[in-house]
Amino acid sequence: MRKEINSLKEQKNAIILAHNYQVAEVQDIADFTGDSLELARKAATLDNDVIVFCGVDFMAETAAILSPDKAVLLPAAEANCPMADMISAGELRVLKERFPDAAVVCYVNTTAEVKAESDICCTSSNAVKVVESLDEDRIIFVPDKNLGSYVSRFSDKEILPWEGFCFVHDRITPQDVKEARNLHPEAEVLVHPECRAEVIDLADGVYSTSGMIRHVCSSPGKEFIIGTEIGILHRMKKECPQKTCYPLSSQAICTNMKKTDLNKVYNSLKDLTPQVVVPEEIADRARKAIIRMLEVR
Ligand code: 13P
Ligand code: SF4
Repeated sequence: MRKEINSLKEQKNAIILAHNYQVAEVQDIADFTGDSLELARKAATLDNDVIVFCGVDFMAETAAILSPDKAVLLPAAEANCPMADMISAGELRVLKERFPDAAVVCYVNTTAEVKAESDICCTSSNAVKVVESLDEDRIIFVPDKNLGSYVSRFSDKEILPWEGFCFVHDRITPQDVKEARNLHPEAEVLVHPECRAEVIDLADGVYSTSGMIRHVCSSPGKEFIIGTEIGILHRMKKECPQKTCYPLSSQAICTNMKKTDLNKVYNSLKDLTPQVVVPEEIADRARKAIIRMLEVR
């Protein structure tokens, strides 16, 4: 299967991008694996005709918005992010009317329609920098309440959060942290900013998915407890084999991220479906918010 995929990739001048939560076989066939920001940056600079996006819908949509002249494929068409569907463009418009002086920051985990209503996007790795880059003192922050609350620790701006959350991270509890620390007392606890504030309070470090991998590889520590989706452990094992990483919760599984397999990647490349297409009028407005984010360094 791997051989077939590689030969189709050459024939079609395609590249395979995968998120850090993808299953091991998909990460291993990918040309590039990363967090949401890295994948968006990569998608913005490619000269391939076809991008096979192994992740969830909002990630492929972001790639399609940034590369309107390319075919962006989402091999598992049904792979969505439930948090992205927790706010609609209509609900955001109502908020904007209520707080006309506020800037709108949307997590990249949103629909293209919500991005089109926003001033700027952010990801887990740049949310604080994005908020601080704005002139406005009041920020409508959608949809993740946990990321919003994390950002407010580092900013004097008034953050007006939406009530969205990621069911994978939000169900990690302080008790999980205590139990993991009891089992591995020497290990550093790293968590994703989509976790609840009371979990973040107990952690040693808070990082995006790729930020965690970089920290594990570069830190002198030997053992780590990883508070995010467990697919990330594959890259950690591969890239830092001398370190030992334990999942903070073995229940931290994003079923949508697990919908892509080699078979779907193969079929998708063979037939050039399912293709993600964002209507031009929405894409043009959403692109402004994404590009503004990419310009924040
Ligand atoms: P990262 O941008 O940190 O990879 O996070 C994406 C995501 O969906 C986390 O649940
Ligand atoms: Fe969405 Fe959570 Fe899955 Fe990330 S882990 S894609 S935020 S449901």
